[in-house]
Amino acid sequence: MKAIVVTDAAAGTVGMTLAERPEPEAAGNDVVVEVHASGFTPGELSWPGTWTDRLGRDRRPSVPGHEVAGVVSALGYGTRGLAVGQRVFGLTDWTRDGTLAEYVAVEARNLAPLPGDVDFAVGASLPISGLTAWQGLFVHGRFQVGQSVLVHGAAGGVGSMATQLAREAGAYVIGTGRAADRQTALDFGAQEFVDLHNDSLADVGGVDLVFDVIGGDVGRRSMDLIRASGMLVTIAGPPEARPVDGLAVDFVVEADRAQLGEVVQRVRDGRLRTNIGNLATLDDAVAAFNPTERIKGKTIIRVRP
Ligand SMILES: NC(=O)c1ccc[n+]([C@@H]2O[C@H](COP(=O)([O-])OP(=O)(O)OC[C@H]3O[C@@H](n4cnc5c(N)ncnc54)[C@H](OP(=O)(O)O)[C@@H]3O)[C@@H](O)[C@H]2O)c1
Repeated sequence: MKAIVVTDAAAGTVGMTLAERPEPEAAGNDVVVEVHASGFTPGELSWPGTWTDRLGRDRRPSVPGHEVAGVVSALGYGTRGLAVGQRVFGLTDWTRDGTLAEYVAVEARNLAPLPGDVDFAVGASLPISGLTAWQGLFVHGRFQVGQSVLVHGAAGGVGSMATQLAREAGAYVIGTGRAADRQTALDFGAQEFVDLHNDSLADVGGVDLVFDVIGGDVGRRSMDLIRASGMLVTIAGPPEARPVDGLAVDFVVEADRAQLGEVVQRVRDGRLRTNIGNLATLDDAVAAFNPTERIKGKTIIRVRP
């Protein structure tokens, strides 16, 4: 099969090529998915799991990409709940070969059915951004109706999902980002927007929940905004500061079939809009992984036309 491979952590994207690789086999409780569309995270080559398996053993050359939408082509021993020929989407294991390939083996429990009226490219754009937003708000953030939520990077992949989900759930949403992102964030449902480079964050007043996708100085500057018993939820690594009277949680997104179902149902209902900024083919995936200009939103690779 054709796949994008990376060979060397130090070389990073320089060593990224389109190559011929053996098709994966389904281990116990796995399915093999014929990949129709794939999503990746620009920074994933810096993750240890890109280079090693679960036991820390070198697994190069590695296939990047951890979001998939496609059709089940084989079942492993003991696999239940999915059938050959079924449309699926989901998040694949960080420490196994990924989805920038014509086939990927993945644990069945990491996938959910993809309804027939949802395009594969849309399906592949949802797992990381949708699940991260869902888990940040409703699992780790313990959001309650009527709370105010400040979403950093509200025009980006995760931020645009968090903005929409929070609004729909009854939040007052303040989005942040660069000046050029104002209208996008408002279109996704933010009621206010703070330009992080020209406006004052302090003018926002108090909020119940800060959802931080940026970290560093932006995370530190947000602490004073959090009301007593409020919360910082971050996906940008361990927070450099914590709320004086509140909780801070940093987390890594996890696969969850039920939550994928919640997210895709909202897309079908028109309650949630995906944020695809660029569509490319597998032949062009190396260039798409290394864009020369800023892409707003997610890049999705259409592996099959
Ligand atoms: N822990 C987890 O489970 C998890 C899950 C998903 C993602 N992540 C990480 O979370 C981060 C965000 O992911 P994403 O997919 O949402 O990325 P994204 O689509 O690039 O969105 C980030 C948004 O924040 C903006 N931004 C970043 N730095 C900024 C700054 N200093 N000032 C103003 N705006 C800024 C970006 O604008 P520009 O494009 O102009 O910079 C973009 O609009 C990534 O680092 C990703 O690796 C972690």
